[in-house]
Amino acid sequence: MCGIVGYIGDREVLPVLINGLKRLEYRGYDSAGVAILGKKPHIYKCKGKVSDLENHLKGKADSGNIGIGHTRWATHGEPNDINAHPHSSYHGKFIIIHNGIIENYTRLRDRLTERGVKFKSETDTEVLANLIEYIYENGNVDAELAVRLALSKVVGAYGLVVMCTDEQDKLIAARRGSPLVVGVGNEEYFLASDATPIVEYTKSVIYLNDGDVAIIRKEQLILKTLQNEDSAPTVQQLSFDIGEIDKGGYDHFMLKEIFEQPHSIEDTFRGRIRSEEAELHLGGLYDVMPKLIDAKRIIIIGCGTSWHAGLVGEYLFEDLARISVEVEYASEFRYRNPIIHKDDIVIAISQSGETADTLAAIKQAKEQGALVLGICNVVGSSIPRETHAGVYTHAGPEIGVASTKAFTCQVTVLTMMAILIGRQKGLISDEKYRSLIKEFTEVPGKIDKILTHSEHIKKLASLYQNATNALYLGRGYLFPVALEGALKLKEISYIHAEGYPAAEMKHGPIALIDDKMPVVIVATKDSSYEKIVSNIQEVKARNGIVIAVVTEGDTVIRGMADHVVEIPEVGNIFTALLSVVPLQLFSYYIAVMRDCNVDQPRNLAKSVTVE
Ligand code: G6P
Repeated sequence: MCGIVGYIGDREVLPVLINGLKRLEYRGYDSAGVAILGKKPHIYKCKGKVSDLENHLKGKADSGNIGIGHTRWATHGEPNDINAHPHSSYHGKFIIIHNGIIENYTRLRDRLTERGVKFKSETDTEVLANLIEYIYENGNVDAELAVRLALSKVVGAYGLVVMCTDEQDKLIAARRGSPLVVGVGNEEYFLASDATPIVEYTKSVIYLNDGDVAIIRKEQLILKTLQNEDSAPTVQQLSFDIGEIDKGGYDHFMLKEIFEQPHSIEDTFRGRIRSEEAELHLGGLYDVMPKLIDAKRIIIIGCGTSWHAGLVGEYLFEDLARISVEVEYASEFRYRNPIIHKDDIVIAISQSGETADTLAAIKQAKEQGALVLGICNVVGSSIPRETHAGVYTHAGPEIGVASTKAFTCQVTVLTMMAILIGRQKGLISDEKYRSLIKEFTEVPGKIDKILTHSEHIKKLASLYQNATNALYLGRGYLFPVALEGALKLKEISYIHAEGYPAAEMKHGPIALIDDKMPVVIVATKDSSYEKIVSNIQEVKARNGIVIAVVTEGDTVIRGMADHVVEIPEVGNIFTALLSVVPLQLFSYYIAVMRDCNVDQPRNLAKSVTVE
């Protein structure tokens, strides 16, 4: 979490920093700050959002062409002005921004305190600033060496940028475990936690690797390892445009991203699926396809919404490719002693490609000899680089903290994989393959149709905006959808919501049913339709309120439920892709009506880079 930005060049730095922080605010919004090397170095920081920082800066900031900025998701120390970044060292010679966690900070802090160093904040980052200065002052070394020596003593993760007031011609950036991207301009460089603050200035970027240290002057970037070996930077071109990271006329990024789904899924399809020729390719998996075909077991790991996509993947791989699947929370997987066989395949799913628990689980799976594949959205992020092969979702930048289009694009990739493996294993006939591909390519159009019902969903939201609890039920492919619907509601509207397999309701949640709590039941026509109709009756028999997501033209459930939302008819394996959309909209409208900050829900961050 935390977003960091930096700039060195001829531009006035403050607007670049503020603009960048606004782009990165989805990563954390407990406090924000900037430091500028002008005539004198200045640090401005405060608790709250970037807009609070802007107010704080009014009439204060001076000009300069070198600076750094930070938006914080608090780990060490409460969100307040003092704990906000940037942090300066005890004599003020070093100013630093940091994303990550210094795990051995207590020991380092004690050692420095014994030597008379005074601390102002409770943060782990200040320890690093002071350690760098201590080495600089006592070791008779330059700033770069002081940074490298300090980092060699650090246990933990960091993406950081350091400025030294004695060496005002450079920024020093380093990365281990937390992302850092350098934008390469004409005699100017930009630094950021991801490429979104950079794309409006340049499309040429360098993704720093773990262990890289970059010494950046206006006219030159030198890349080294922590051990001072030279390293060659690889400049890549960004594949998205500035328009993709604007709200594009929508009130919130989340709404924009919900409405983008038909288009995003088409982007996921692009170059991979063609209905006319009944063709499906996944170039990223070409080399590993023989192993996928022989796989005895697939272990899917992820967190949050990505974990829910993984659950849909479980049904898909078992149905279409007849491979047994286990879906694991990345955080649990790594802290157990998981058993991985040599013909098991691990698939890591992550929108950001930076989730610390998922990354750590990947490392563990690799150490145990597994082939690890990634399904990620952010190109050049850590997970695609840590995995042996994989597939990008190409959903485009997802800015809203609550994941929407990333989920449907992850499920799209999983569906493509399952069809492809099933086909290559000879489990899917020519005719079925053709019809599956045809139906798959119709999914974006069907989602478009669901989106035309948004006013109806908004009305439903207005009826239940004051609910304090909600239950979401589904079976089979629709059980993960129920989980995802409940997660969306709780994360952005702060209404307590639980997702359950519909049949499990009678083993506990049925006790919650009353005439106030909405029960959202995803009940489209599939193999368990009859059973879910019975579950609806069980809720109604107890005076429960049922909001049902049904297949177009369903008169049976319409006659029983309090409200229905229709989705177009679609085959079993595609139901998750469609039925999640009304649930996303329902949560969105409720959150707006409750005056919640939809794009930046409290306490959450989009990219969780702490374990
Ligand atoms: C955070 C986000 C969720 C996301 C989860 C996993 O909790 O708020 O929206 O699903 O992290 O993130 P990833 O980037 O790995 O998909």
